[in-house]
Amino acid sequence: EHCRVQAVEERTNNECSCEISLLRQAVLQNNDQLLSEMLCQEIYKKVINCRGGWGVAGTPLHAAVSKGHLSCLQVLLAHGAKVDCVDVKAQTPLFAAVRGKYLECVLALLRAGANPNGNSTNNCSPVLTAAREGDVEILKELLRHGAEVNSRSKVLLWTSSARVSSGPLYLAAVYGHLECFKLLLLYGADPDYNCTDARLLSSMKQPKTVLEMCLRHGCDVEFIQLLIDFGANVYLPTLFLTLIFCVFLTSSGNPKTLMSQCRLALMGIFTRCEDLSLSKAPPVCGHVLFLF
Ligand SMILES: *[C@@H]1O[C@H](CO)[C@@H](O)[C@H](O)[C@H]1NC(C)=O
Ligand SMILES: *[C@@H]1O[C@H](CO)[C@@H](O)[C@H](O)[C@H]1NC(C)=O
Repeated sequence: EHCRVQAVEERTNNECSCEISLLRQAVLQNNDQLLSEMLCQEIYKKVINCRGGWGVAGTPLHAAVSKGHLSCLQVLLAHGAKVDCVDVKAQTPLFAAVRGKYLECVLALLRAGANPNGNSTNNCSPVLTAAREGDVEILKELLRHGAEVNSRSKVLLWTSSARVSSGPLYLAAVYGHLECFKLLLLYGADPDYNCTDARLLSSMKQPKTVLEMCLRHGCDVEFIQLLIDFGANVYLPTLFLTLIFCVFLTSSGNPKTLMSQCRLALMGIFTRCEDLSLSKAPPVCGHVLFLF
C-alpha cells in the first residue's frame, strides 16, 4: 500500500520509483520467472527503461548485467528493454557487462544489437575497459562485432612517469596484457597510435607514441617486437630512448632483423643531427657518430 501511494506521488514527477525498485529487486535476486510475470503487467512494462530509485544510477538492464544475471537480461530484452539505454554516467549495459567481465552477457547484448562502442558521451569505452582488464575473450567479441580498435579515451592515463593519452594499445601495454595487445594489432590498431586530441594535448607535457611509451615504461620485449612486426615507426625522439630501444632489441632472441631496426632508429637521430649546423650540434651527435 505504501508502495502504491509512493508510486502515484512519483508519477506526478513523471517517475514510477516503486515499480522500478520492484523490477530491480527481482533482477538482483536473479528471479527471471517473477520478472517475466511482472513484465506482463503494463504497470511494470512501462518503466522497463527507466533509471530509478534512490541512489540508483541505471535501468533494470544495468542491474542485470552488473551481476551477470543472463536469464534476467534475456527476459528484459524480450519485453522491450532498450539495449543501449544509458545510466547517469552515460554507460550502456554493454559497458557494465564488460566491466563486470561477464562474457555471456556481453555476447547476448552484442547479439541484440548493442553498440560495441558504448555511448560516445561516456569518457571510456568497452574496448578500453577490456584492454585495461586484459579480458581477451571479451575484447575479441567486441572487435568481432565492429568495435573501434583505436577508440580514444577522453581522459589521460597516469603512468609512473607522465600523463599520456590512453588508447587501448597503451592500456594493454601498461597493464602487461600481451594477448590483448596482439589482438588489437591484429584487428588493425595503429602501431603508431599518437594522441591528436587538442584538449588532451594541452595538458600533456609531450605526446608519446605507443613504442615510446613501451620503452619508457619498461614493457617486455615481446610488446616492442610486436610493434615492429606490425610496422611501427622506429624513429624515436631522443638518443636516450633510441639506446634503450637498441638494448631491448639486442637482449631479445632475434638480433639479426632487430639490429637493422636499431640501426634505422640511430639513423633517425643521426639525420636530425645533420640538419643542424655544426656549431649548434648537440653533444649527442658526437656520441651517435661514435656508435657508428
Ligand atoms: C548516448 O546517450 C544519449 C542519452 O540517452 C542519447 O541521446 C544518444 O543518442 C546516445 N548516443 C549513442 C551514440 O548511443
Ligand atoms: C605525436 O603527436 C604530436 C602532437 O600531434 C606530434 O607533435 C608528434 O610529432 C607526434 N609524434 C610522432 C612520433 O608521430
